Parts: sequence; C-alpha cells; structure tokens
Amino acid sequence: MSAVICTEGLTKYYGKTLGVADLNLEVKKGEVFGYLGPNGAGKTTTIRTLLDFIHPTRGRATIFGLDTHRDGVKIKKQVGYLPGELELYKNIKGGEFLRHFAYLRGGVDWKYVQELAERLDFDMSKPIRSLSSGNKHKAGLIQALMHKPELLILDEPTVGLDPLMQQEFYRIANEAKKQGQTLFISSHILPEVERICDRVGFIRRGKLIKVEEVLDLKEHAFRQIEIHFANPVSKEEFENLSVVKDVRVEDSVLRFTVAGPLDAVVKTAAKFEVINIISHEPNLEDIFLTYYGGDENAAS
Ligand SMILES: Nc1ncnc2c1ncn2[C@@H]1O[C@H](COP(=O)(O)OP(=O)(O)O)[C@@H](O)[C@H]1O
Ligand SMILES: [Mg+2]
Repeated sequence: MSAVICTEGLTKYYGKTLGVADLNLEVKKGEVFGYLGPNGAGKTTTIRTLLDFIHPTRGRATIFGLDTHRDGVKIKKQVGYLPGELELYKNIKGGEFLRHFAYLRGGVDWKYVQELAERLDFDMSKPIRSLSSGNKHKAGLIQALMHKPELLILDEPTVGLDPLMQQEFYRIANEAKKQGQTLFISSHILPEVERICDRVGFIRRGKLIKVEEVLDLKEHAFRQIEIHFANPVSKEEFENLSVVKDVRVEDSVLRFTVAGPLDAVVKTAAKFEVINIISHEPNLEDIFLTYYGGDENAAS
C-alpha cells in the first residue's frame, strides 16, 4: 500500500519549547491511524505542520506524495480537517456556515450534509453564536466530512461530544474507512483508538515512541480487574493463571492485573458466586511506563 502521509524528521520548536521532534511517520492508504498521546504531547503541532499552517523547524512531510508546503493548495482539496480548536464566524447560522464551506469546495452532495447533521443531531437553523462547544464541534466535523475527501485529519474528534454522539462518530468513521478514505485521528483516549483504528502511534513529549497494530496492542493490553464475590475467596486459583499478576484479596473482593485474554479469568471466577466485575482501563502514562519503560528514545 502506498503512503498517504509521510514525514521525514519532521520537527517543530516554538522558540525553545519543543512541539514535535524527528517525526518519521507513514500512514498508508485506506487505514485508520490513531495518533495517541496525553495533553501537550505534540499532536496538534504535528497536524498543523502537516497542513502547512505552521512551518517545521526542520524536516519535511508529504501528503499523497506531494510536498505539504509547496503543494498545500492542491493537497487541501482532498483533505477534510477538523481543528482541535475551532474558530467560527459567530453571526451566521450553522447551515450557512456549512453552505459557505460547500461553496468553497466547489459544491458537495448537500443530501450527505443533511444526513450527517441529522445523525449528529446538529441543528442547522441555530446561530453559531448560540451553540455549545460540542455543537460547534459537530459543525466542524460535518465541514470536514462533507466532500468525502480522500484523507481525513481529525484533531481529537470526540472531545465535547456526548457518549451517544461519540458512538455515532465511530460509525461515521468506520463508514469512511469502508469507502476507502484514509483517516488520521488524534486522541488521548486509548479505548477510543482501540475501537476505531488499525494502527496507533504513541506520542509523548514531542517524540513518537512506538507504532503498533491495534490487534497486537489488544493482545498485550492490561487492565486492573476487581471481582466482588458473594463469599470470601482464596487467591491461589487466580494466581496460577498465566495472564494474571499482582493478586490481592480482601474478604470477598479480589483485585489483580490482567494482560491478555480474559477467558481463563472468567471461567475461574465462574466457579464461585460473582456479584460484580469492575474493569479499569490503564491510563496512557501507565501504558507508556509498562511497555516502553517511559523511554523517550525507544525506536518507533
Ligand atoms: N503556539 C504555541 N506557542 C508555544 N508553544 C506551543 C504552541 N502550541 C503548542 N505549544 C507547546 O507545544 C507542545 C505540544 O503542544 P500540542 O501540539 O498542542 O500538544 P497536544 O495537541 O498533543 O496536546 C506543548 O508543550 C505546548 O505547550
Ligand atoms: Mg491538541
């Protein structure tokens, strides 16, 4: 598969502050690539550099094989972009805002715009001024999707969306992938990336520390599990399971860490009367520390 996005040593400093350093990244045609990192990691900087809104301190990037700086105008025709922070004209209605973008793009399928608005529960008749940040975000999403571009670059697309709308967005993203569109999605939420992406790049303090297939990630994904039993249990049977670590027991509550499939754990627990199972996803810092030892220079 050919690369839709390719960066070579892409680096951006804001004065002395590091935005992103020595980024070598390749996003393949038709894949959904998750760009995962905590706040301040350099996600927005990367995206803004890719779109030529800011100039790299050094290094370069291509999109569709074209230089992002020299061929910026040509590239943008086939890119849908959702900025992390959206500045909108406040004195027009949502629908007028979208019409304006449709016009700039030389016309789009307005039925598709209406369908998106309906699915995301976006009211086009309300003035932008009166919209909550979540609703402004929806306008931004529709604007990015409306011309069915070859490449979607979405900076934290689910921030500010309520859970139902998040699910709808995941469906829309899946459909885009099925249509052959390529998606580059930044996020600070691991389960979200696991759910919609094919590959994920972990970025931390301006450095890409690892790129992994999501399938591999799930295989060694770990989480903290808490099982509440009806009666006190002993921890031995659980300690013998190969996927289980750090087993602690307090009366009838068992706590442990699981890395890998849950099957054996569930079957062992089922021998006793189970009241509740609580699973805690690890946060990003835990993942960085566990897999990559917090090593910022780990190979990508
Ligand atoms: N315009 C700017 N001027 C100075 N520093 C900036 C600017 N934008 C971002 N930074 C800094 O660059 C680093 C990366 O920020 P950013 O790319 O916004 O991260 P993310 O999108 O992952 O939260 C942070 O330390 C941030 O403070
Ligand atoms: Mg950001």
